[in-house]
Amino acid sequence: MKKRLIRAIVLLMMAITLVGIQPAMADNSGDGAKLFTVHCAGCHANGGNIIRRGKTLKLKALAKNHLDTQEAIAQLITQGKNPMPAYNDRLSVTEIEAVGAYVLEQAERGWK
Ligand code: HEC
Repeated sequence: MKKRLIRAIVLLMMAITLVGIQPAMADNSGDGAKLFTVHCAGCHANGGNIIRRGKTLKLKALAKNHLDTQEAIAQLITQGKNPMPAYNDRLSVTEIEAVGAYVLEQAERGWK
């Protein structure tokens, strides 16, 4: 009897844990900021570029490199470019759009 109760409690706790974790795991909702932190900030913290100094994510650089539209940025993220990895196998189309929109939005705000 007692054993069954313990099992029930353990199962209940597992269920609670699963429910608690699931939203984080199933986060394809396109949280651009979060995606950026996870996938891009390593090279592009604060809109910079630690590898190619002239290729930052600031509006001036984006405009100069013809990457100041959502489409162009999404394409670049999808396909990658030189040392920048392609993300088509890691991010969904929705996620690429979300992180691209975030980049453009931050660029327009000066990454503040
Ligand atoms: C391994 C380092 C690295 C990571 C990670 C990385 N990038 Fe890049 N990114 C680069 C490099 C290097 C370039 C310059 C490519 C070139 O034109 O030669 C670049 C260029 C860019 C540009 C164009 C900048 C310009 O002024 O031309 C954008 C936009 C961009 N990255 C967005 C992203 C986004 C969004 C992510 C995450 C999904 C990301 N990058 C992840 C290294 C990286």
